[in-house]
Amino acid sequence: MADDRKTEASAEDENATVRTSRRNFLKFSASGAAAAAVASWIPGQIASAREAEPVTDDALPGQGERRIKLIVNGQEHTLNVPVNAVLLDVLRDRLNLTGTKKGCDLGQCGACTLLVNDVAINSCLSLAVQHEGEKITTLEGLARDGELHPVQQAFLEEDAYQCGYCTPGQIMSAVALLNDPNLPKDDASVREAMSGNICRCAAYKNILAAVQSARSRMGGLA
Ligand code: FES
Ligand code: FES
Repeated sequence: MADDRKTEASAEDENATVRTSRRNFLKFSASGAAAAAVASWIPGQIASAREAEPVTDDALPGQGERRIKLIVNGQEHTLNVPVNAVLLDVLRDRLNLTGTKKGCDLGQCGACTLLVNDVAINSCLSLAVQHEGEKITTLEGLARDGELHPVQQAFLEEDAYQCGYCTPGQIMSAVALLNDPNLPKDDASVREAMSGNICRCAAYKNILAAVQSARSRMGGLA
């Protein structure tokens, strides 16, 4: 009997601890601390502005490789790459630019979207050797002088993400869309233009709001 009471008391203590933890968590969530935690996590996903150190391979290309110059975010790299290496893998594995995400690796999700000569492409479907000398822009190349790109800023302010995995690709597609003066930007057109970027968290409503907010920030000219 005494043991039963002890067990009940322990269970009650445990419940109280859980309730307290939950209360603390909720308090934390509503506080600046949570915002700070999110802010410290966000840069890698949304606001990354890291520059890749220039990479130059000294050795001659091996069998099945080709020597190419890639210009990424304004930085030139000279690399020996397998002729069948896709751009996504070269950026992530050779240049350590991991802002561009690998989702399906099949051209279906849009997580790997980046810009080549200001046009959005799926980098998982494109060979690195096809892009010698072209202007490649990744998420890391959007911010300028410590200022986020208006699209990055809008995604943060409109809370246009949940897990954040699709977000870099969403941002790159939005940048390509907003930079093209010939494309319509009404809500239906934005949804259509962004339809190649899948969000499994279904943050679409806020993503649309972020794109339209960024459009206003860019003077509504886009
Ligand atoms: S990883 Fe390229 S489209 Fe999914
Ligand atoms: S925010 Fe999670 S997949 Fe889009």
